Amino acid sequence: MKSHDLVIVGAGLSGMRAALEGARAKIDVAIVTKIHPLRSHSCAAQGGINASIDKEDSWESHAFDTVKGSDYIGDEDAIRLMAEEAPKVVLEMDRMGTPFSRLENGDIAQRAFGGANFDRTCYAADRTGQVLLHTLWEQLVKAGVPVYEECQVFNIVTDGEGCAGLVCYNIKTGEVFPIGAKAVVICTGGYGRVFNSTTNATSCTGDGMALAMRAGAALGDMEFVQFHPTGLRTSGILVTEGARGEGGILINAEGERFMSKYAPSKLELASRDVVSRAEQTEIIEGRGINGAVLLDLRHLGAAKIMERLPQIRELAMDLEGVDPIHAPIPIRPTVHYSMGGIRTDMWGESKLPGLWSAGEAACVSVHGANRLGGNSLLDTIVFGKVTGKKVCEHVKGISGFREFKTSAIQEVKDWIADLKARPKAGGIRPFDLHQRMSTSMNLNCGVFREPDRLQAELDAFPGYREDYAKIYLDDKSDTFNVDLLRAMELRNLIDLAEAIIRGAVARKESRGAHSRRDFPKRDDKNWRKHTLASWDAAKGEVVLSYEDVRTLGIKEYEPKERVY
Ligand code: FUM
Repeated sequence: MKSHDLVIVGAGLSGMRAALEGARAKIDVAIVTKIHPLRSHSCAAQGGINASIDKEDSWESHAFDTVKGSDYIGDEDAIRLMAEEAPKVVLEMDRMGTPFSRLENGDIAQRAFGGANFDRTCYAADRTGQVLLHTLWEQLVKAGVPVYEECQVFNIVTDGEGCAGLVCYNIKTGEVFPIGAKAVVICTGGYGRVFNSTTNATSCTGDGMALAMRAGAALGDMEFVQFHPTGLRTSGILVTEGARGEGGILINAEGERFMSKYAPSKLELASRDVVSRAEQTEIIEGRGINGAVLLDLRHLGAAKIMERLPQIRELAMDLEGVDPIHAPIPIRPTVHYSMGGIRTDMWGESKLPGLWSAGEAACVSVHGANRLGGNSLLDTIVFGKVTGKKVCEHVKGISGFREFKTSAIQEVKDWIADLKARPKAGGIRPFDLHQRMSTSMNLNCGVFREPDRLQAELDAFPGYREDYAKIYLDDKSDTFNVDLLRAMELRNLIDLAEAIIRGAVARKESRGAHSRRDFPKRDDKNWRKHTLASWDAAKGEVVLSYEDVRTLGIKEYEPKERVY
């Protein structure tokens, strides 16, 4: 059986950054990923990475903006750590060769982003995630870290107490194989595909979160789902917040710059939850255009658009038939980011011994109920590094591997054989069930949440699970069987959707991205706490419990009304 001291699942920015720590610590580390590292969704983060590298800025100011942005439910110890580490990790990425955009004097260029009191978002035009990903990939190749590419993890195996390793499915060959590990770090990103309108790639199915929950870890704050204010109307593909940071404005069907009504001070650069609700209100009240509002960049001029936002121009032309130099872009709020994830302490350790997590898959929690733009890339690099370092210390202190029951491998082989043997007659295609659930999640668990709709969605879950038991595969082959891969992912998406909806039904307040029509106010007395979602195997459903926010007792961070 293959085994490594440390196995990282996922090869986006947090996974690669954690693996780099393993290589530096001379640990036997390997990565398992369902797609090639350079296709990881981190490459889709366009606008930038926050760090207080300017002399006029401070990490304290960055930490404050993040606490406020989180709507006072982010864990303050982790937020301070992230803000303090930010300049160090960004300058380290710079020294590794990341081609950031530059000022005339050679300093890294920074732009304005939402919810921030300082222009602290470092960027590389509108391709920041992509250039960071390439830079880290070069480091991993140099360090010789082995990568199990095109391998989907099907289960986390435990010995009843802690993590013993993984059962994986090789997408290229159809082989099912185990990997033993002293520790596993889940870095599999978010679950945007729970919803049908999302900026997320098809690969963003939150696999690691669902695997961790079923293995015994808890998920934190799953009800907080971020809608990005500027997804393209038709495809939902991201138009970076950097477009507004560069001066882009939002207008409605009447040509009105409507953000002045909702966030008179910060306007388009209020935080994402605020801007998404403003857009949705305009659309609901009849001032939208075909279900969208408009992002106007024309006044920036051709030169600036082509220098700073070249990818946005291409996407708008290719996917909406609009050249932003000459016409505004139709956009709408679109599911973008999972504030929730595998609940960890500030070092990335979950409650399941041997299981760690970093990046969007984790709920550390630095984003609380609403993440600030530019803090996602930062989270991946800071907590990839921090968690990588800590897990290496942990692994060095362990002499042996936990018992890995071989029956765990046979169970997966049997699951696949059973699925392939199912007849088409009376069956359901995974694609159709996914479409039904994701469309319904968008409708019932959107920017604004209504009690009847939330309850209707929760009531739909026994049905989704019954239908999942009837799915069949058109493709029975062993080689690149995407039909089978989608069935594996759908199992994860259903469990995560249930965690989201249960958390949303239970949380009787509005906070950050969770905006309930029946409870429109934040309720710090009763709800300044984290939701934990766990898997109850006996009931076959998700169950909830709660945990206090980690606060530092600093006056500056005391909850206030959040205005922008
Ligand atoms: O708008 C953007 O460029 C996205 C950045 C982020 O989610 O941090």
